[in-house]
Amino acid sequence: VLDRFRGRWPESLPIRPLDPGVWSGQKPTFREARPAIIDAAAGRAATRPSGNWFVLAASAAVRPDRPYGARVAGAEIVAWRDSDGTLLAGPGGCPHLGAPLAEGRVDSGRLLCRWHGLTLDRSGGFGWRPLPSFDDGVLVWVRLDAVGGEAALPAPVLPARPDPETSIAAVATMPGTCEPVDIVANRLDPWHGAWFHPYSFARLRVVHAPPRREVSEADDRFVVDVTFRLSKRMGVPVRAEFRCPEPRTVVMRIIEGEGRGSVVETHATPLGAGADGRARTAVTEAVIATSERPGFARAGRAAGVLRPLMRWGAARLWRDDLAYAERRYALRNGLV
Ligand code: FES
Ligand SMILES: [Fe+2]
Repeated sequence: VLDRFRGRWPESLPIRPLDPGVWSGQKPTFREARPAIIDAAAGRAATRPSGNWFVLAASAAVRPDRPYGARVAGAEIVAWRDSDGTLLAGPGGCPHLGAPLAEGRVDSGRLLCRWHGLTLDRSGGFGWRPLPSFDDGVLVWVRLDAVGGEAALPAPVLPARPDPETSIAAVATMPGTCEPVDIVANRLDPWHGAWFHPYSFARLRVVHAPPRREVSEADDRFVVDVTFRLSKRMGVPVRAEFRCPEPRTVVMRIIEGEGRGSVVETHATPLGAGADGRARTAVTEAVIATSERPGFARAGRAAGVLRPLMRWGAARLWRDDLAYAERRYALRNGLV
């Protein structure tokens, strides 16, 4: 039935019919996907300043009624909210006898240790001091100067985002056995999209990659024409751009098509070594979707055509990209 309509499909409809095609019939991309281009882009990202800021969690995960525990580069971190909602974060071990503060209780904005009732607040206590922390409304960050080793910045380097009034955000996190650079390098290989994730992407074409030498800031991006699959025979074509604003963040921004201005931010946070001695990294993916369609944000959830974008964090896409990053890490370290 769709085939009959394909020739006269209304241009204004964001959903387009899609030739289901055959996976093996796609144009191979391995010649274009030069390892040197990907590595150089990841290398340039690594040299940008982060100001020693690390993504800790989704903003919504740090609550006023209980502490949130995490690990960043081997350091235990605890975070909670003061009675006025202010984010507080600091070392995760109690300054008395080292109890895990993440298992404590929050009472009127103060964190109480479960072992002997030591109380911590924004002014610290017993030698414990809060760390610089930042809540950008979608994610919370912590600044670890000893881990980052760069010049500290007063706030994290944030990508431009759509207006929160007219957008909706969803955050998902998953740990993997790799380093942040492996996560970044995976996202800076746009050529794998339709081959490796055929259930999500179709008709992918890389229309711009950074040149091999003398890369200007404006050129340091990948631009991709791709169709987000809704089903086997339907999809939403968009043009998307990938950039790294700082060493552990890759931002995909829809620059043309439905959902223009929406971003998918991928943040990699080193967790430290696992019991096997191999590196662990948390991937935090924030999808911030916007639409020029009236009532989009009020509808409270991404309806219709933005569904595939909101499902970016869907388990399968995640698992596959993490497997790619883990494989890259294993290859780099002679573990295969
Ligand atoms: S260990 Fe926390 S109060 Fe004693
Ligand atoms: Fe991918």
